[in-house]
Amino acid sequence: MGIFSGKEIVLGVTGGIAAYKACEIVRELHKGSASVHVVLTASGAQFITPLTLQTLSKNPVVTDLFNLVSESEIGHISLAQRANLLLIAPATANIIGKIRNGIADDMLSTVVMATAAPVLIAPAMNSQMYASAAVRENVATLRERGFHFVEPDEGELACGTVGPGRLADVGKILEMGRIILSEKPLAGKRVVVSAGPTAEPMDPVRFLSNRASGKMGFAMARAARRLGAEVTLVSGPTALPDPHFLATVRVRTAEEMLGAVTREAEGADVVVMCAAVADFRPKKPSSRKIKKDGFGLKVELAPTPDILESLGRKKGSRLLVGFAAETDDLAQNAREKMRRKNLDAIVANDVSRIDIGFESDNNEVRIFFPDGEVMDLPLATKDGIAVGVWLALNGKLLRR
Ligand code: C5P
Repeated sequence: MGIFSGKEIVLGVTGGIAAYKACEIVRELHKGSASVHVVLTASGAQFITPLTLQTLSKNPVVTDLFNLVSESEIGHISLAQRANLLLIAPATANIIGKIRNGIADDMLSTVVMATAAPVLIAPAMNSQMYASAAVRENVATLRERGFHFVEPDEGELACGTVGPGRLADVGKILEMGRIILSEKPLAGKRVVVSAGPTAEPMDPVRFLSNRASGKMGFAMARAARRLGAEVTLVSGPTALPDPHFLATVRVRTAEEMLGAVTREAEGADVVVMCAAVADFRPKKPSSRKIKKDGFGLKVELAPTPDILESLGRKKGSRLLVGFAAETDDLAQNAREKMRRKNLDAIVANDVSRIDIGFESDNNEVRIFFPDGEVMDLPLATKDGIAVGVWLALNGKLLRR
């Protein structure tokens, strides 16, 4: 179950060319099982029709404060009160100015004033307008008042200029929504998560690697951010884009990952090694592409550094958490690794199963603790498992 599930979201759509992107926002929220109520301003309705948004949201779209039917069915106060989140996307300079100045002359500005729910504003406008003193000052003031913003992206705008002003990526807006709606048990914690495989070069075109997709580690990093932590993700080569609102450091080899994780672990409260670090690397990588007939049939290997073991030797008050991908004797192997690497917990999954692990979007794990306690997290999405792991770690270790 995702964060939007069961939530009441009021989506304000104002008059800009990006109004059509509200369709995608509604669809994504609806897919996440949120109940979406769209409030469309008069100028918004010049760009997109109420019928489109009504069809996608499966709820009546409110356009006019003084419409007797909609006011009796879904009055502005009732909308304002039942919202868990009020999202305005796209938000024009006009609506931002109205909110800042306490003007409530249409349905959207009235609902904003009447709500106690968090308000997330995603501006979209011409770059010159966005850079204007009025908008800068209005945004700064609203931030001080506790309004949340997702800054617009830079790029080519509909008006032909290039610069900041384009509505932020829909995925980024939704991610900020999830962050706002999540509980924050990890607030104040600094977390480092590693993810993905490592790739150990043989020559400039070949490398040794493994099947890790990075999905579990990325989910752990995203979940920690949503739960309030300050997060750095150290990732080996994966096809996944950098997650929003956290720092991502990209590395390739185990040696590079050791350097990055060791550096980032300074001052961190928790290090979670989710990466499937290669155990061996070609001993002498060639600087030139090895010819077919120059290969021979043997590649000499050398061990890579064990990052967790190295952190475990000087861990101080930091929590160290490992992941163990096993095909046999899961409990015994996981416990042995936890002891050898001096860990505070190890999360183990059975990668011989095809429905979980590696490239799958789902997982099922057992968490082992040094005191012998074992927690089982049943089959769920990797995002769901990640939240479960963080809540388990928080309940048992981090709250001390
Ligand atoms: O020994 P094994 O690789 O199965 O241990 C798994 C745990 O150790 C994972 O958390 C993994 O990220 C970490 N590890 C490491 N450095 C290595 C190998 C594994 O930190 N060289």
